[in-house]
Amino acid sequence: AMIDKGNHRHFMLKEIYEQPVVVAQTLRSYIRPVEQMVALPDMAFDLAAVERVVIVACGTASYVGMIGKYWIERFARLPVEVDVASEFRYRDPVLPPGTLGVVVSQSGETADTLAALRHMKESGVTTAGIINVPTSSMAREVDLLLSTHAGPEIGVASTKAFTCQLAVMAALSVNLARAKGRLDAEQERAVVRALIAAPETISAALAYDEAIAGMAGTIAGARDVLYLGRGPEYPMALEGALKLKEISYIHAEGYASGEMKHGPIALIDEAVPLIVLAPSGPLFDKTVSNMQEAQARGAQVVLISDAAGIAQAGENTIATIEMPEVHPLIAPLVYAVPVQLLAYHVAVAKGTDVDQPRNLAKSVTVE
Ligand code: G6P
Repeated sequence: AMIDKGNHRHFMLKEIYEQPVVVAQTLRSYIRPVEQMVALPDMAFDLAAVERVVIVACGTASYVGMIGKYWIERFARLPVEVDVASEFRYRDPVLPPGTLGVVVSQSGETADTLAALRHMKESGVTTAGIINVPTSSMAREVDLLLSTHAGPEIGVASTKAFTCQLAVMAALSVNLARAKGRLDAEQERAVVRALIAAPETISAALAYDEAIAGMAGTIAGARDVLYLGRGPEYPMALEGALKLKEISYIHAEGYASGEMKHGPIALIDEAVPLIVLAPSGPLFDKTVSNMQEAQARGAQVVLISDAAGIAQAGENTIATIEMPEVHPLIAPLVYAVPVQLLAYHVAVAKGTDVDQPRNLAKSVTVE
């Protein structure tokens, strides 16, 4: 079937806007709203027997793996290892019995991820795949297919597939936690309610589109941009930097806030915008103190936080982007939106080919 951009100027923007619908569509397969429970499809193995999790992916999908590590460790109390597929397949990884191997891929055809999946299977590891294309090689080969229902993604830079992958990763984390006896019914209901609220909260985040478009010009002139975050917002910082690089060709780096003092702070001056992803919560003050260290050196800060966070730390920034108040579990799904929109509008301001950036392919089926 032909897919068109509708009223949108680019597929990327259309796909960013589809997120409330496709995330809801995806969650429908993994949530029983009446019981407020998570439910994965039937599987031929016992989740309670899982002792550790290894997540392997490439690019944007690998950040879903990194966020999954925070969630699975927190909720299921299982050790989690995350690696990019090109390293995993050649480093002779140790895969003891009890390992659940998880691949994450939009296309299900990325050569390195597919090779990593085959390596896990040959090593006797039980595998699951968070995959968007149900007819793909990976979808056929995994023991447990966890489909995302993002629909076809045309823009080379992944957006809606990413948030749908996060939704499924959250459901997997919760289900693992229940299977391991680490989450009681009450706790599960609370996280499921947060997940159910995700699509609406993503919609609320989309309302900042115009404000973000309005500030894109200030970022478009930069040569380097730094993104900072802590906890699950650290991989989001990596994703923000990747998105910006991919489509605007501006050099960008994502860093764990606490690591800034170990290197990137040397780069900071008035010419380097610093994008800080910091929902309120237990890590907020720590991130803010890292942000202030940078401000003291002239950094031009864009703070992405909620109303309480902005009230506390929004001074002396060049811009603030106010996100809704969110449950920590869904913060990455919501904070993905401003990060995607910022990259998009900066690229439009620079006049680059947003949907077909130079040198990149939608699906990399060669090594
Ligand atoms: C390419 C795309 C990225 C994507 C990565 C992994 O590099 O340009 O957007 O994140 O491949 O693709 P996959 O299909 O495995 O998710």
